[in-house]
Amino acid sequence: MIKKISTTYVKNDEIEFIVDDDPEFGWISSFESQKFDRFFVVIDKNVKKIWGEQINLQLKKHNKEIFFFEVEASEKSKSTLFYPELIDFFEKNRCGLSDLVIAFGGGVIIDLVSFSCSTYMRGLPLYIIATTLIGQIDASSAGKTCLNTQNTKNLLGTFYYPLKVYNNINFLKTNAPYYSRQGWSEIFKYGLLGSRKLLEMTAEYFSNPDKNLLMEIIELATRIRIDIKNKNPLASNLGHTFGHALEKISNFEILHGDAITIGTIISLYFSKKVGLMQEEKINDILNKMKELKLNIFLDKNIDIDSMLEVMMHDKKSSSKNLNLVLIKGIAEPYEKEGCPFYKTDPEFVKNFLKEFMTFYPDIIANCPFVLKKDVIPYSMITSVNHLSFTVADVEKSVEFYKNLLGLDLMNLSERDIAFSEKVTGIPGAHLKIAYLNGNNCSIELIQYLSPRGEKINDLQK
Ligand SMILES: NC(=O)c1ccc[n+]([C@@H]2O[C@H](COP(=O)([O-])OP(=O)(O)OC[C@H]3O[C@@H](n4cnc5c(N)ncnc54)[C@H](O)[C@@H]3O)[C@@H](O)[C@H]2O)c1
Ligand SMILES: [Zn+2]
Repeated sequence: MIKKISTTYVKNDEIEFIVDDDPEFGWISSFESQKFDRFFVVIDKNVKKIWGEQINLQLKKHNKEIFFFEVEASEKSKSTLFYPELIDFFEKNRCGLSDLVIAFGGGVIIDLVSFSCSTYMRGLPLYIIATTLIGQIDASSAGKTCLNTQNTKNLLGTFYYPLKVYNNINFLKTNAPYYSRQGWSEIFKYGLLGSRKLLEMTAEYFSNPDKNLLMEIIELATRIRIDIKNKNPLASNLGHTFGHALEKISNFEILHGDAITIGTIISLYFSKKVGLMQEEKINDILNKMKELKLNIFLDKNIDIDSMLEVMMHDKKSSSKNLNLVLIKGIAEPYEKEGCPFYKTDPEFVKNFLKEFMTFYPDIIANCPFVLKKDVIPYSMITSVNHLSFTVADVEKSVEFYKNLLGLDLMNLSERDIAFSEKVTGIPGAHLKIAYLNGNNCSIELIQYLSPRGEKINDLQK
Protein backbone atom coordinates (compact mmCIF):
# COMPACT_ATOMS: atom_id res chain seq x y z
CA MET A 1 0.00 0.00 0.00
CA ILE A 2 1.41 3.38 -0.95
CA LYS A 3 0.16 6.59 0.59
CA LYS A 4 1.18 9.89 -0.91
CA ILE A 5 0.90 13.37 0.48
CA SER A 6 1.89 16.36 -1.57
CA THR A 7 2.27 19.74 -0.05
CA THR A 8 3.40 23.14 -1.17
CA TYR A 9 5.61 24.64 1.50
CA VAL A 10 6.94 27.62 -0.32
CA LYS A 11 5.72 29.15 -3.55
CA ASN A 12 6.07 26.64 -6.39
CA ASP A 13 8.05 24.21 -4.27
CA GLU A 14 6.22 20.97 -3.88
CA ILE A 15 7.36 18.17 -1.62
CA GLU A 16 6.06 14.67 -2.03
CA PHE A 17 5.84 12.39 1.01
CA ILE A 18 5.57 8.70 0.32
CA VAL A 19 4.60 6.26 3.07
CA ASP A 20 4.70 2.57 2.26
CA ASP A 21 5.39 -0.94 3.52
CA ASP A 22 6.85 -2.51 0.40
CA PRO A 23 9.40 -5.11 1.60
CA GLU A 24 11.23 -4.79 -1.74
CA PHE A 25 11.52 -0.96 -1.52
CA GLY A 26 10.32 -0.77 -5.13
CA TRP A 27 9.80 2.99 -5.00
CA ILE A 28 13.57 3.41 -4.78
CA SER A 29 14.08 1.77 -8.17
CA SER A 30 11.18 3.58 -9.80
CA PHE A 31 11.34 7.22 -8.71
CA GLU A 32 11.74 9.83 -11.42
CA SER A 33 15.44 10.16 -12.17
CA GLN A 34 15.76 11.21 -15.83
CA LYS A 35 16.76 14.73 -14.92
CA PHE A 36 19.61 13.66 -12.63
CA ASP A 37 23.09 12.68 -13.82
CA ARG A 38 24.40 10.85 -10.77
CA PHE A 39 23.35 9.88 -7.23
CA PHE A 40 25.20 10.93 -4.09
CA VAL A 41 23.95 8.78 -1.24
CA VAL A 42 24.88 9.97 2.23
CA ILE A 43 24.17 7.06 4.48
CA ASP A 44 24.15 6.25 8.20
CA LYS A 45 26.82 3.60 8.91
CA ASN A 46 24.47 1.38 10.91
CA VAL A 47 21.76 1.66 8.30
CA LYS A 48 24.24 0.74 5.58
CA LYS A 49 25.16 -2.47 7.44
CA ILE A 50 21.55 -3.55 7.70
CA TRP A 51 19.89 -2.11 4.61
CA GLY A 52 22.72 -0.94 2.34
CA GLU A 53 22.88 -3.92 0.01
CA GLN A 54 19.15 -4.11 -0.59
CA ILE A 55 18.87 -0.39 -1.28
CA ASN A 56 21.89 -0.38 -3.56
CA LEU A 57 20.28 -3.10 -5.68
CA GLN A 58 17.23 -0.88 -6.17
CA LEU A 59 19.25 2.26 -6.89
CA LYS A 60 21.36 0.46 -9.50
CA LYS A 61 18.25 -0.09 -11.61
CA HIS A 62 18.40 3.60 -12.57
CA ASN A 63 21.71 2.91 -14.40
CA LYS A 64 23.45 5.91 -12.91
CA GLU A 65 26.80 6.34 -11.30
CA ILE A 66 26.32 6.10 -7.52
CA PHE A 67 28.62 7.55 -4.85
CA PHE A 68 28.26 6.48 -1.23
CA PHE A 69 29.40 8.51 1.75
CA GLU A 70 29.10 6.83 5.16
CA VAL A 71 28.42 8.83 8.28
CA GLU A 72 28.44 7.80 11.94
CA ALA A 73 25.06 8.67 13.45
CA SER A 74 26.19 10.82 16.34
CA GLU A 75 25.58 14.44 17.23
CA LYS A 76 29.25 15.01 16.34
CA SER A 77 28.43 14.25 12.72
CA LYS A 78 25.85 17.01 12.37
CA SER A 79 28.38 19.58 13.48
CA THR A 80 30.52 22.38 12.13
CA LEU A 81 33.50 20.06 12.61
CA PHE A 82 32.20 17.30 10.36
CA TYR A 83 30.28 19.40 7.83
CA PRO A 84 33.44 20.28 5.81
CA GLU A 85 34.09 16.57 5.24
CA LEU A 86 30.79 16.11 3.48
CA ILE A 87 31.29 19.31 1.50
CA ASP A 88 34.77 18.05 0.49
CA PHE A 89 33.21 14.82 -0.70
CA PHE A 90 30.73 16.74 -2.86
CA GLU A 91 33.46 18.99 -4.18
CA LYS A 92 36.00 16.25 -4.94
CA ASN A 93 33.43 14.39 -6.96
CA ARG A 94 32.23 17.57 -8.64
CA CYS A 95 28.73 17.08 -7.35
CA GLY A 96 26.50 19.68 -8.99
CA LEU A 97 22.97 20.88 -9.53
CA SER A 98 22.23 18.17 -12.09
CA ASP A 99 23.02 15.42 -9.52
CA LEU A 100 20.71 14.07 -6.85
CA VAL A 101 21.69 13.81 -3.18
CA ILE A 102 19.92 11.15 -1.17
CA ALA A 103 19.98 11.39 2.64
CA PHE A 104 19.52 7.90 4.00
CA GLY A 105 19.20 7.53 7.75
CA GLY A 106 17.66 9.07 10.88
CA GLY A 107 17.43 12.65 12.12
CA VAL A 108 21.18 13.14 12.40
CA ILE A 109 21.82 12.27 8.75
CA ILE A 110 18.76 14.21 7.61
CA ASP A 111 19.87 17.37 9.44
CA LEU A 112 23.48 17.13 8.27
CA VAL A 113 22.62 16.40 4.64
CA SER A 114 19.80 18.95 4.40
CA PHE A 115 22.03 21.68 5.81
CA SER A 116 24.85 20.71 3.46
CA CYS A 117 22.55 20.62 0.43
CA SER A 118 21.06 23.98 1.28
CA THR A 119 24.46 25.66 1.46
CA TYR A 120 26.47 23.85 -1.24
CA MET A 121 25.89 25.75 -4.51
CA ARG A 122 22.88 27.34 -2.75
CA GLY A 123 20.79 24.22 -3.03
CA LEU A 124 21.40 20.71 -4.31
CA PRO A 125 18.39 18.56 -5.24
CA LEU A 126 17.61 16.32 -2.25
CA TYR A 127 15.57 13.20 -1.58
CA ILE A 128 15.24 11.83 1.94
CA ILE A 129 14.88 8.16 2.82
CA ALA A 130 14.09 8.28 6.53
CA THR A 131 14.89 5.21 8.62
CA THR A 132 13.83 6.18 12.16
CA LEU A 133 10.43 7.23 13.46
CA ILE A 134 11.80 10.68 14.37
CA GLY A 135 13.18 10.92 10.85
CA GLN A 136 9.87 9.92 9.28
CA ILE A 137 7.50 12.11 11.25
CA ASP A 138 9.66 15.01 12.30
CA ALA A 139 13.11 15.71 10.87
CA SER A 140 12.18 15.00 7.24
CA SER A 141 8.98 17.01 7.17
CA ALA A 142 10.17 20.11 8.93
CA GLY A 143 12.20 21.87 6.28
CA LYS A 144 14.35 23.00 9.19
CA THR A 145 17.97 22.02 8.73
CA CYS A 146 20.33 21.96 11.71
CA LEU A 147 24.00 21.81 12.60
CA ASN A 148 25.59 21.82 16.04
CA THR A 149 28.44 24.18 16.83
CA GLN A 150 31.10 23.10 19.32
CA ASN A 151 29.00 24.37 22.22
CA THR A 152 25.42 24.56 21.07
CA LYS A 153 23.07 22.00 19.61
CA ASN A 154 21.14 23.04 16.48
CA LEU A 155 22.52 26.59 16.57
CA LEU A 156 23.03 26.80 12.81
CA GLY A 157 20.19 26.21 10.44
CA THR A 158 18.44 27.10 7.24
CA PHE A 159 15.01 26.41 5.81
CA TYR A 160 15.42 23.94 2.99
CA TYR A 161 13.04 21.44 1.49
CA PRO A 162 13.67 18.04 -0.01
CA LEU A 163 11.90 17.22 -3.26
CA LYS A 164 10.72 13.86 -2.00
CA VAL A 165 10.59 12.01 1.31
CA TYR A 166 10.31 8.23 1.32
CA ASN A 167 9.06 6.64 4.55
CA ASN A 168 9.05 2.85 4.40
CA ILE A 169 7.92 1.37 7.71
CA ASN A 170 10.09 -1.74 7.27
CA PHE A 171 13.15 0.32 8.21
CA LEU A 172 11.63 0.97 11.62
CA LYS A 173 11.74 -2.72 12.55
CA THR A 174 15.50 -2.66 13.03
CA ASN A 175 15.66 0.55 15.05
CA ALA A 176 15.92 0.07 18.83
CA PRO A 177 12.76 0.81 20.84
CA TYR A 178 14.78 3.35 22.80
CA TYR A 179 14.96 5.46 19.64
CA SER A 180 11.41 4.73 18.50
CA ARG A 181 10.13 6.08 21.83
CA GLN A 182 11.57 9.47 20.86
CA GLY A 183 9.39 9.42 17.74
CA TRP A 184 6.26 8.33 19.61
CA SER A 185 6.76 11.26 21.95
CA GLU A 186 6.56 13.71 19.02
CA ILE A 187 3.59 11.88 17.49
CA PHE A 188 1.81 12.11 20.85
CA LYS A 189 2.58 15.83 20.95
CA TYR A 190 0.99 16.33 17.52
CA GLY A 191 -2.08 14.47 18.78
CA LEU A 192 -2.29 16.70 21.84
CA LEU A 193 -1.97 19.81 19.71
CA GLY A 194 -4.21 18.91 16.85
CA SER A 195 -5.96 15.56 16.80
CA ARG A 196 -7.71 13.32 19.29
CA LYS A 197 -8.00 10.83 16.44
CA LEU A 198 -4.20 10.57 16.21
CA LEU A 199 -4.03 9.75 19.93
CA GLU A 200 -6.72 7.11 19.54
CA MET A 201 -4.93 5.56 16.58
CA THR A 202 -1.66 5.53 18.50
CA ALA A 203 -3.24 3.83 21.54
CA GLU A 204 -4.85 1.30 19.20
CA TYR A 205 -1.49 0.63 17.56
CA PHE A 206 0.16 -0.07 20.92
CA SER A 207 -2.49 -2.58 21.91
CA ASN A 208 -2.64 -4.13 18.46
CA PRO A 209 0.32 -3.28 16.20
CA ASP A 210 -0.80 -3.24 12.60
CA LYS A 211 1.27 -1.98 9.70
CA ASN A 212 -1.58 -0.21 7.92
CA LEU A 213 -2.40 1.63 11.10
CA LEU A 214 1.26 2.61 11.51
CA MET A 215 1.30 4.07 8.00
CA GLU A 216 -1.89 6.00 8.73
CA ILE A 217 -0.34 7.35 11.92
CA ILE A 218 2.77 8.52 10.06
CA GLU A 219 0.63 10.12 7.39
CA LEU A 220 -1.69 11.90 9.84
CA ALA A 221 1.19 13.10 12.04
CA THR A 222 2.88 14.54 8.95
CA ARG A 223 -0.30 16.33 7.88
CA ILE A 224 -0.80 17.84 11.33
CA ARG A 225 2.82 18.88 11.42
CA ILE A 226 2.50 20.64 8.06
CA ASP A 227 -0.73 22.40 9.12
CA ILE A 228 0.73 23.67 12.36
CA LYS A 229 3.99 24.70 10.75
CA ASN A 230 2.20 26.66 8.04
CA LYS A 231 0.42 28.70 10.73
CA ASN A 232 3.51 29.34 12.85
CA PRO A 233 6.72 27.24 12.77
CA LEU A 234 7.07 27.50 16.57
CA ALA A 235 3.47 26.62 17.42
CA SER A 236 4.36 22.92 17.49
CA ASN A 237 6.68 23.57 20.43
CA LEU A 238 4.43 22.06 23.12
CA GLY A 239 6.65 20.92 26.01
CA HIS A 240 9.73 22.16 24.17
CA THR A 241 10.61 25.20 26.29
CA PHE A 242 10.85 22.96 29.37
CA GLY A 243 12.11 19.96 27.37
CA HIS A 244 14.98 21.75 25.63
CA ALA A 245 16.13 23.08 29.00
CA LEU A 246 16.12 19.56 30.44
CA GLU A 247 18.09 18.26 27.47
CA LYS A 248 20.65 21.01 27.79
CA ILE A 249 21.21 20.76 31.55
CA SER A 250 21.53 16.97 31.30
CA ASN A 251 24.22 17.64 28.70
CA PHE A 252 21.98 15.89 26.14
CA GLU A 253 22.12 12.65 28.09
CA ILE A 254 18.34 12.70 28.10
CA LEU A 255 17.14 12.27 24.52
CA HIS A 256 14.89 14.82 22.86
CA GLY A 257 11.62 12.86 22.81
CA ASP A 258 12.01 11.79 26.45
CA ALA A 259 12.69 15.40 27.43
CA ILE A 260 9.67 16.59 25.45
CA THR A 261 7.28 14.16 27.14
CA ILE A 262 8.24 15.31 30.61
CA GLY A 263 8.34 18.92 29.32
CA THR A 264 4.77 18.45 28.09
CA ILE A 265 3.70 17.11 31.49
CA ILE A 266 5.20 20.20 33.12
CA SER A 267 3.27 22.38 30.64
CA LEU A 268 0.01 20.59 31.47
CA TYR A 269 0.42 21.34 35.17
CA PHE A 270 1.43 24.89 34.29
CA SER A 271 -1.81 25.25 32.32
CA LYS A 272 -3.65 24.09 35.42
CA LYS A 273 -1.77 26.59 37.56
CA VAL A 274 -2.90 29.46 35.34
CA GLY A 275 -6.47 28.21 35.15
CA LEU A 276 -6.45 26.77 31.62
CA MET A 277 -6.70 23.08 32.47
CA GLN A 278 -8.36 20.75 34.96
CA GLU A 279 -6.69 17.92 36.88
CA GLU A 280 -8.96 15.23 35.30
CA LYS A 281 -7.79 16.19 31.84
CA ILE A 282 -4.16 15.96 32.96
CA ASN A 283 -4.73 12.52 34.46
CA ASP A 284 -6.37 11.34 31.27
CA ILE A 285 -3.37 12.52 29.21
CA LEU A 286 -0.89 10.98 31.68
CA ASN A 287 -2.64 7.64 31.39
CA LYS A 288 -2.42 7.83 27.64
CA MET A 289 1.30 8.59 27.87
CA LYS A 290 1.82 5.59 30.15
CA GLU A 291 0.05 3.31 27.66
CA LEU A 292 2.62 4.35 25.09
CA LYS A 293 5.48 3.87 27.57
CA LEU A 294 6.64 7.44 27.11
CA ASN A 295 9.02 8.98 29.61
CA ILE A 296 6.94 10.36 32.45
CA PHE A 297 9.89 10.47 34.86
CA LEU A 298 11.95 13.41 35.95
CA ASP A 299 15.26 13.33 37.75
CA LYS A 300 15.16 14.55 41.34
CA ASN A 301 18.40 16.50 41.04
CA ILE A 302 17.23 18.85 38.33
CA ASP A 303 18.53 22.35 39.03
CA ILE A 304 15.65 24.78 38.53
CA ASP A 305 17.87 27.87 38.29
CA SER A 306 19.90 26.36 35.45
CA MET A 307 16.70 25.26 33.79
CA LEU A 308 15.34 28.82 33.85
CA GLU A 309 18.62 30.18 32.54
CA VAL A 310 18.33 27.93 29.48
CA MET A 311 14.65 28.71 29.04
CA MET A 312 15.44 32.41 28.75
CA HIS A 313 17.42 31.58 25.58
CA ASP A 314 14.48 29.76 24.04
CA LYS A 315 13.69 30.99 20.51
CA LYS A 316 10.24 32.06 21.70
CA SER A 317 11.45 34.12 24.70
CA SER A 318 12.06 37.81 24.79
CA SER A 319 14.43 39.52 27.22
CA LYS A 320 11.65 39.81 29.82
CA ASN A 321 9.10 37.12 29.10
CA LEU A 322 8.80 33.45 28.46
CA ASN A 323 6.40 32.43 25.72
CA LEU A 324 4.99 28.94 26.19
CA VAL A 325 2.95 26.72 23.90
CA LEU A 326 0.10 25.39 26.06
CA ILE A 327 -3.07 23.39 25.59
CA LYS A 328 -6.43 23.68 27.34
CA GLY A 329 -7.33 20.10 26.51
CA ILE A 330 -6.70 17.54 23.78
CA ALA A 331 -6.60 19.31 20.39
CA GLU A 332 -7.35 22.63 22.09
CA PRO A 333 -4.17 24.69 21.79
CA TYR A 334 -4.05 27.95 23.75
CA GLU A 335 -4.31 30.99 21.52
CA LYS A 336 -4.78 34.70 22.20
CA GLU A 337 -5.66 37.10 19.42
CA GLY A 338 -4.15 34.75 16.86
CA CYS A 339 -0.90 34.32 18.82
CA PRO A 340 -0.18 30.71 19.85
CA PHE A 341 2.01 31.62 22.85
CA TYR A 342 1.20 32.16 26.52
CA LYS A 343 3.30 35.07 27.71
CA THR A 344 4.54 34.70 31.27
CA ASP A 345 7.01 36.01 33.81
CA PRO A 346 10.18 33.90 34.38
CA GLU A 347 10.01 34.35 38.19
CA PHE A 348 6.47 32.97 38.17
CA VAL A 349 7.63 29.96 36.11
CA LYS A 350 10.56 29.38 38.46
CA ASN A 351 8.30 29.28 41.50
CA PHE A 352 5.91 27.01 39.67
CA LEU A 353 8.74 24.60 38.81
CA LYS A 354 9.84 24.45 42.45
CA GLU A 355 6.26 23.67 43.41
CA PHE A 356 6.01 21.04 40.65
CA MET A 357 9.02 19.19 42.07
CA THR A 358 7.17 18.85 45.39
CA PHE A 359 3.90 17.38 44.15
CA TYR A 360 4.64 15.46 40.93
CA PRO A 361 4.74 11.76 41.87
CA ASP A 362 7.17 10.45 39.27
CA ILE A 363 10.29 12.25 40.37
CA ILE A 364 13.08 9.78 40.99
CA ALA A 365 16.72 9.79 41.98
CA ASN A 366 19.15 8.76 39.24
CA CYS A 367 16.49 8.69 36.58
CA PRO A 368 17.36 5.86 34.20
CA PHE A 369 16.58 8.07 31.25
CA VAL A 370 19.41 10.37 32.12
CA LEU A 371 22.11 8.22 30.63
CA LYS A 372 24.55 8.84 27.85
CA LYS A 373 22.79 8.02 24.62
CA ASP A 374 25.80 6.81 22.72
CA VAL A 375 26.89 4.28 25.35
CA ILE A 376 25.08 1.36 23.76
CA PRO A 377 26.79 0.40 20.50
CA TYR A 378 23.67 -0.14 18.45
CA SER A 379 25.89 -0.97 15.52
CA MET A 380 26.52 -4.30 17.21
CA ILE A 381 22.88 -5.09 17.67
CA THR A 382 21.64 -6.93 14.65
CA SER A 383 18.08 -7.57 15.65
CA VAL A 384 15.93 -6.08 18.31
CA ASN A 385 12.51 -6.67 19.66
CA HIS A 386 10.92 -5.82 22.97
CA LEU A 387 12.17 -8.90 24.73
CA SER A 388 15.51 -9.86 23.30
CA PHE A 389 18.26 -8.80 21.02
CA THR A 390 21.32 -10.36 19.49
CA VAL A 391 24.72 -8.80 19.62
CA ALA A 392 26.94 -9.37 16.60
CA ASP A 393 30.34 -9.25 18.21
CA VAL A 394 30.26 -10.59 21.73
CA GLU A 395 33.89 -10.13 22.64
CA LYS A 396 33.95 -6.54 21.54
CA SER A 397 30.74 -5.66 23.28
CA VAL A 398 31.64 -7.33 26.57
CA GLU A 399 34.83 -5.29 26.58
CA PHE A 400 32.98 -2.17 25.54
CA TYR A 401 30.44 -2.35 28.35
CA LYS A 402 33.15 -3.12 30.87
CA ASN A 403 35.23 -0.12 29.89
CA LEU A 404 32.43 2.34 29.54
CA LEU A 405 29.92 1.33 32.13
CA GLY A 406 31.96 -0.85 34.46
CA LEU A 407 29.27 -3.34 33.62
CA ASP A 408 29.92 -7.05 33.47
CA LEU A 409 27.72 -8.34 30.67
CA MET A 410 28.34 -11.90 31.79
CA ASN A 411 26.86 -11.14 35.13
CA LEU A 412 24.04 -8.68 34.97
CA SER A 413 22.58 -7.84 38.33
CA GLU A 414 19.88 -5.67 39.88
CA ARG A 415 21.92 -2.53 39.59
CA ASP A 416 21.93 -2.84 35.82
CA ILE A 417 18.32 -1.91 35.42
CA ALA A 418 19.28 1.41 33.87
CA PHE A 419 21.30 -0.41 31.25
CA SER A 420 18.45 -2.78 30.53
CA GLU A 421 16.02 0.07 30.22
CA LYS A 422 18.25 1.68 27.65
CA VAL A 423 18.55 -1.39 25.51
CA THR A 424 14.87 -2.26 25.49
CA GLY A 425 13.36 1.18 25.76
CA ILE A 426 11.12 -0.12 28.53
CA PRO A 427 11.22 1.79 31.81
CA GLY A 428 12.48 -0.46 34.58
CA ALA A 429 13.31 -3.36 32.29
CA HIS A 430 15.75 -5.90 33.65
CA LEU A 431 17.72 -8.15 31.34
CA LYS A 432 19.76 -11.26 31.82
CA ILE A 433 22.02 -13.22 29.55
CA ALA A 434 20.11 -16.19 28.22
CA TYR A 435 23.06 -17.75 26.49
CA LEU A 436 26.47 -16.79 25.31
CA ASN A 437 27.73 -18.91 22.54
CA GLY A 438 30.30 -18.44 19.79
CA ASN A 439 29.54 -15.18 18.06
CA ASN A 440 26.09 -14.85 19.43
CA CYS A 441 24.98 -13.45 22.70
CA SER A 442 21.34 -13.42 23.34
CA ILE A 443 19.95 -11.44 26.19
CA GLU A 444 16.40 -11.67 27.38
CA LEU A 445 14.16 -9.59 29.48
CA ILE A 446 13.48 -11.41 32.71
CA GLN A 447 11.78 -8.83 34.76
CA TYR A 448 10.16 -5.50 34.38
CA LEU A 449 10.21 -3.14 37.32
CA SER A 450 8.91 0.36 37.38
CA PRO A 451 11.62 2.81 38.36
CA ARG A 452 9.90 3.15 41.70
CA GLY A 453 10.37 -0.53 42.32
CA GLU A 454 6.95 -2.09 41.76
CA LYS A 455 6.99 -5.27 39.72
CA ILE A 456 5.05 -5.18 36.50
CA ASN A 457 4.24 -8.65 35.31
CA ASP A 458 2.85 -7.90 31.94
CA LEU A 459 6.01 -8.51 29.94
CA GLN A 460 4.37 -8.31 26.54
CA LYS A 461 3.36 -4.70 27.06
N1 LIG B 1 15.27 19.18 11.75
C1 LIG B 1 14.25 18.85 12.50
O1 LIG B 1 13.16 19.37 12.40
C2 LIG B 1 14.43 17.76 13.51
C3 LIG B 1 13.31 17.21 14.12
C4 LIG B 1 13.49 16.17 15.04
C5 LIG B 1 14.77 15.72 15.32
N2 LIG B 1 15.84 16.29 14.72
C6 LIG B 1 17.19 15.81 15.01
O2 LIG B 1 17.24 14.42 14.74
C7 LIG B 1 18.21 13.79 15.59
C8 LIG B 1 17.60 12.57 16.23
O3 LIG B 1 17.12 11.75 15.21
P1 LIG B 1 16.98 10.16 15.37
O4 LIG B 1 16.23 9.87 16.60
O5 LIG B 1 16.48 9.65 14.08
O6 LIG B 1 18.47 9.73 15.69
P2 LIG B 1 19.71 9.21 14.83
O7 LIG B 1 19.73 9.71 13.45
O8 LIG B 1 20.89 9.50 15.70
O9 LIG B 1 19.47 7.65 14.80
C9 LIG B 1 19.39 6.94 16.02
C10 LIG B 1 20.20 5.65 15.99
O10 LIG B 1 19.53 4.70 15.18
C11 LIG B 1 20.41 4.17 14.17
N3 LIG B 1 19.53 3.88 13.06
C12 LIG B 1 18.90 4.73 12.22
N4 LIG B 1 18.02 4.06 11.44
C13 LIG B 1 18.11 2.76 11.78
C14 LIG B 1 17.45 1.58 11.35
N5 LIG B 1 16.48 1.61 10.44
N6 LIG B 1 17.82 0.41 11.92
C15 LIG B 1 18.78 0.36 12.89
N7 LIG B 1 19.41 1.45 13.35
C16 LIG B 1 19.09 2.63 12.80
C17 LIG B 1 21.42 5.25 13.97
O11 LIG B 1 22.63 4.71 13.46
C18 LIG B 1 21.58 5.77 15.40
O12 LIG B 1 22.45 4.94 16.14
C19 LIG B 1 18.65 14.84 16.59
O13 LIG B 1 19.90 15.33 16.23
C20 LIG B 1 17.58 15.93 16.45
O14 LIG B 1 18.10 17.21 16.75
C21 LIG B 1 15.69 17.29 13.81
ZN1 LIG C 1 10.81 18.14 19.07
